[in-house]
Amino acid sequence: MPSTAHTLSKSAIAKVGKGYDLIANIYDGAVRVVFGQSLAQLQHDAIERLNKAAHISIIGGGSGTILRQLMDKDAAQHYAYIEASMRMLDKAKARLTSHETLRVDFTATIPEDLTTDIIILPFVLDCYPSEEVKAMLTACSTHLRAGGKLLVIDFNLDKDHGFQGSWYHRAFIRLLYGFFRITGGSRTTSLPPVFSLANDLFGKGIPIASRYQQWILASVYQAESKKLQAA
Ligand SMILES: C[S@@+](CC[C@H](N)C(=O)[O-])C[C@H]1O[C@@H](n2cnc3c(N)ncnc32)[C@H](O)[C@@H]1O
Repeated sequence: MPSTAHTLSKSAIAKVGKGYDLIANIYDGAVRVVFGQSLAQLQHDAIERLNKAAHISIIGGGSGTILRQLMDKDAAQHYAYIEASMRMLDKAKARLTSHETLRVDFTATIPEDLTTDIIILPFVLDCYPSEEVKAMLTACSTHLRAGGKLLVIDFNLDKDHGFQGSWYHRAFIRLLYGFFRITGGSRTTSLPPVFSLANDLFGKGIPIASRYQQWILASVYQAESKKLQAA
């Protein structure tokens, strides 16, 4: 029987990465103009809730603010930093000392043999349509150790996940996708329901941090959930 499961090809990921290469020099500044420090603070609050791990993987960490935060917290002994944009990867490397760099494997796509305790997905699932989000989450589940955790940080417009925002939050998201249509940094034209999709695969997530009436949400999922074992 032919498989109906979607996959996310390396060439598709590379194309998104090239879109981010174009805006790598202005991305962090633009985020600060719009959100001030609140996104960085939200990420900080979320990773403060993680227990120390042997190995943490970050997928789509951009220019590496989150990697710096994890290093400063001494959150893990080793890290995989998986980032599709080469320019973003270079920026992330530049945030570390040469000694710290030895503790990080930098790659553009998930290494096939990756086994990790925690995977962090910060504002990366929102680059993809639902079927590809499912493919990414399924791939994550195969790389997590039993008992491992997935931390999803992203936009949320779903009242079932606590969104209490307003029309301007929805309007901002429409603007954002209009912008990414021009740069090529997104494979979708609307925000996928990332938290519902993660719930479907991992079981109910635990919200650990939020901003702007749950418009931006961080939720943790456990790899040993019943749904994941059944998948
Ligand atoms: C919206 S930006 C978020 C960057 C950063 N997490 C932040 O919050 O500032 C998405 C990032 O994910 C990267 N990305 C997109 N798809 C990816 C994938 N499948 N694997 C690794 N990185 C990816 C992009 O290159 C980009 O740097």
